[in-house]
Amino acid sequence: SMAEKGGYKHFMLKEIHEQPRSIADTIRGRVLPDGSRIVYKEIGISYEELALTKKIYLVACGTSYHACLIGKYMIERIARIPVEVDIASEFRYREVPFERDSLFIAITQSGETADTLAALRYAKKSGVKTLTICNVVGSTASREADGVFYTHSGPEIGVASTKAFTSQIVALYIFTFALSKAKRANPADINEIFLSKLFHLPTMAEKALKLEDKIHQLAKEVYKKPNFLYLGRGLNYPVALEGALKLKEISYIHAEGYAAGEMKHGPIALVEEGFPVVFIVSDDLYLEKTLSNMEEIKARDGFIITISSSKEEKLKKLSDRFIYVEGINSYLNTVLFSIPLQLLAYHVAILRGCDVDQPRNLAKSVTVE
Ligand code: G6P
Repeated sequence: SMAEKGGYKHFMLKEIHEQPRSIADTIRGRVLPDGSRIVYKEIGISYEELALTKKIYLVACGTSYHACLIGKYMIERIARIPVEVDIASEFRYREVPFERDSLFIAITQSGETADTLAALRYAKKSGVKTLTICNVVGSTASREADGVFYTHSGPEIGVASTKAFTSQIVALYIFTFALSKAKRANPADINEIFLSKLFHLPTMAEKALKLEDKIHQLAKEVYKKPNFLYLGRGLNYPVALEGALKLKEISYIHAEGYAAGEMKHGPIALVEEGFPVVFIVSDDLYLEKTLSNMEEIKARDGFIITISSSKEEKLKKLSDRFIYVEGINSYLNTVLFSIPLQLLAYHVAILRGCDVDQPRNLAKSVTVE
């Protein structure tokens, strides 16, 4: 009924709109507003143990795997610990030679995904310390891992993950700074400035949701296109992968995410007049490089849709449609850019008459191998 969907037509739309609150719920009680303290005791791994960590393995499936990729950029850059990321169904069979003092982290909304559980059990059996970033309290992953960092984003009903994903990013951000403090990888005041930024995120997510009308208009222009390419660099590369996954899951349009720098090694062959390419661009060191990728698309008459926190003139000029998203920093912008991408997938799917809450052939959690 409409009532259980909080007045929204679909659970997915309700969950997209819940993000200001679900993000706040992930932060609550864990970080002080001035960023001076992180409360992470609940996860069951001490600062002393964190300080010893030499290598991190991040493993998951689907959308949660994209959160892992974002986590890699965060942890390596901020906490300076090498991170390996893998898909659970690959990880579990590839006989990983674990390094000493490793930490294995399974990211899973449900805590019940069969491949993710198998990977977790494999790590445990190998004597590696395990943690799960999980949404469902009391789930199998939360019971079996040595430590749990709950995302607390509330029940997610829509098959395509939205709010659970953005909470996973927030959880990774908090965890990264806990690691960084334990390792003393950054001066304390830098940690505090970055952590205090978290408190702007719910309000900024609210602002990003206000883009909905604009995104709806855009959806009307593009919903009949048979193919989409999503491109980003750095932290926005996984955002591009997730944007493409959302579209393909619920609208059945073929969509591919790619690292923008890699597009000339294949995907560019697809680009012809009107071919939609979604660029996700932060106002950071990748901006210049991304502009040159856009020129390549422009030269082939592709249809450029840009989601960006930069107001750079050149960027606007190269874009056929430009969606400005007010940003915070490159790390947290991954959350803010994901919101218009979720809305784009949703509105395109609705225009195509698809069942967004129950897409064909997909399950909310895959409990068989
Ligand atoms: C299924 C769902 C996805 C989800 C993936 C991993 O494919 O449809 O939305 O990302 O499983 O689920 P998990 O619960 O482990 O995060």
